[in-house]
Amino acid sequence: MTPSIGIDAIALAVPQGYIELSELAEARGVPPGKYVEGLGVRRMAVAQRWEDPVALAANAARRLFATSGQDPSRVGLCVVGTETAVDHSKPIAAWLHRLLGLPQRARVYESKHACFGGTAGLLTALDWIASGSAGGRTALVVCTDIARYELRSAGEPTQGAGAVALLVSERPRLLALDPSVSGSYSKDVDDFWRPLHRKEALVDGHHSVQCYLDALEGAYGAWKEANAAGDLHAPLARRCYHVPYGKMARKAHRHARQLDGLSEPEADATFAAEVAPSLALPAEVGNVYTGSLYFALASLLHAEAAKLEGARVGLFSYGSGCTAEFFAGRVASGAGALVKSLALDAPLEGRRRYGVAEYEAIRAADAEADPSFAGVRPPTRPGEVAFAGIENGRRIYL
Ligand code: HMG
Repeated sequence: MTPSIGIDAIALAVPQGYIELSELAEARGVPPGKYVEGLGVRRMAVAQRWEDPVALAANAARRLFATSGQDPSRVGLCVVGTETAVDHSKPIAAWLHRLLGLPQRARVYESKHACFGGTAGLLTALDWIASGSAGGRTALVVCTDIARYELRSAGEPTQGAGAVALLVSERPRLLALDPSVSGSYSKDVDDFWRPLHRKEALVDGHHSVQCYLDALEGAYGAWKEANAAGDLHAPLARRCYHVPYGKMARKAHRHARQLDGLSEPEADATFAAEVAPSLALPAEVGNVYTGSLYFALASLLHAEAAKLEGARVGLFSYGSGCTAEFFAGRVASGAGALVKSLALDAPLEGRRRYGVAEYEAIRAADAEADPSFAGVRPPTRPGEVAFAGIENGRRIYL
C-alpha cells in the first residue's frame, strides 16, 4: 500500500512591522469601514529593505527545522515559489541551500506562476515522493513574497509580505493530501501582472476578482468530478482559499457552496464554521501571494487542529494569469499536539506598528531594484537572516 504523503510541518516568517488598515484609510480619505469590513483586511505587513524575499524565506525555513525536529540533511528537493524574484537567473532556492545547510545531493530551484508558484512546488513534491524518486528523503517547499501596489491605488490596502515553509514527507504529521483527487483550471487572462521594470504590480482589480471566481468554478468542478469517481467521499469540514484579502475568501466560499446547490443565505451561513478560522493570520499580514493559502492553512490548524483530527480540508490555490487548483487533505491524528509545539503564530508577536509616514518612508527607501547599503548592519531580530545590500554585483546575506 502507498504510504500517505503530505505536509509534515509548517513555519511562518513575517517582517517585523505592520500598518493598521484603519489608519491607512484615514490617511487616504477613505471610510475605514471600506477597508476593514468592505475588503476584510485589518493589518498589512510592511517589509524593510533588509527583509527581502530571500531573508523571509530563510527565516521561515530555519524556524521550520528549529520547531519541527526535522533535519535539513534529509531534504532531497527544495522548491521556492515566488513572484518576487530577486534575480532573473539565480533562484532564491540557491541562497537557501547555503543558509539552511541543505545537502549537495539535493535538487533546488524556483517556481513561478503568480500566487500559484508555491502550490506548484507542493504538488511536484507530492509526485516526487509518490514516484519513489525521493528514496525516503523529504521535500522543502517555501513560498515567499512581497506584495506591492502603487501608493494611493485601489490595490494599496491589499499589500502584504511574508513567507511560509512547508516540509513534505511520507507519513505526514499535519495534513495527508488526498492522492490522485485534484481539480485544475487554466486560462490566459490579463488580470494582474508585474512588468520586469517595476516593483509594483499592475492589476485590473474588478476583472481579477471575476477571473478568480471563474477559476474557482472550473477547478472546484473538476475536483468534484474526480472526487465522485474516487473512493474518498468524506465531506469537506473546512475550506482554505487563496486570500488576497478576507472578503475575496468570503466571496469564493459563497460561490463554491452555491455550486453545491445551497442558496446564497445558506451558503453564507456556513462561512463562520467552514472558513473564518483560516482568516485570522492572513488578516494580520495581508496578501502574501504564494504563501497566502498556506497562511490560511496555518491559521486553521493553529485554531482547530486538535478538533479536526481525521477531518477533511479543501484547499483552493489561485495564481493570476491564470491557473488554479482545488485539492484536499485529511488532518493527521496527533496534529493538535504537534501544532502546539510549532507555535505557528509566534513570529507575529512583538511586531512594531508603523505610522503612515514611516510606511511611506520605508517604501521610498525600498524603491531601487538593487539597493546598495553594504556595510550597514540591518537591525534584525536575533538569529534572523537579513539582506545586507549588493557588493561587487553580489547579494549579501548576514
Ligand atoms: P475598490 O474598487 O477600491 O473597492 O477596490 P470596491 O469599490 O469594489 O469596494 C470593495 C468592497 O468594499 C465592496 O464590497 C464595497 O461594497 C465595500 P463587495 O461589493 O465587494 O462585497 N465598501 C464598504 N464596506 C463598508 N463600509 C464602507 C464601504 N465602502 C465600500 N464605507 C479591489 C477593490 C479588490 C478591486 C482592489 O483592492 C484591488 O485591485 N486589489 C488588488 C487585486 C486583488 O487582490 N484581486 C483579487 C483577485 S486576483 C488574486 O487573488 C491574485 C493575486 O493575489 C495576485 C497573484 O495571483 O499573484 C492578486
